[in-house]
Amino acid sequence: ADIAGRTNAVIDAKKGLEGPLLPILNGVQAEFGFVPQDALPVIADALNLSRAEVHGVMSFYHDYRREPAGRHVVKLCRAEACQSMDGDALAARLMDLLGVGLHETAADGSVTLEPVYCLGLCACAPAAMVDDQVIGRLDRDKVEAIAREVRS
Ligand code: FES
Repeated sequence: ADIAGRTNAVIDAKKGLEGPLLPILNGVQAEFGFVPQDALPVIADALNLSRAEVHGVMSFYHDYRREPAGRHVVKLCRAEACQSMDGDALAARLMDLLGVGLHETAADGSVTLEPVYCLGLCACAPAAMVDDQVIGRLDRDKVEAIAREVRS
C-alpha cells in the first residue's frame, strides 16, 4: 500500500486545524489501524517538525499503535480507581493467560492488550473493554472468560 499517499490524504484533510498533529495521528491510525513508521517523516515534513518531535508526541500518548493490532483488542484500565480495586493482580492474571504484556500483540495475532487510563466506569471498577464492549467489575472469572473469548 502507498503509505505516503494515504498519509498525505489524511494530512490534507486535517492540516488546516489548529494543533493538527494529534488529529493527523488519529486520522492515520484510523486509516491504517496503526501509525506506520513510514508515515512519520511524511507528517514531520508537512508540519515542519522533526521526526523526533512527531515520534515524541506519539510516544507520549498511549493511544497510538506502532504495529497492526490483533483480531481482538483488550483495553485494560490502569488508572487509579481500577488499580485500587485489585486491578494489578487482575492485570497480571490477564497478561499471564494471554501470554502478552501491555502494548503487545500475541504471536498468533489473536489479541492486542493495551492499557487505558479511565474508561469512565470507575463506579464499576475494575473495568476493561473487549473490542467495543465494556466490562465492569472484573474478577478472576471474568478475566478468564475474556481470555477464552479472544483466544477462540
Ligand atoms: Fe478505571 Fe475510571 S479508573 S474506569
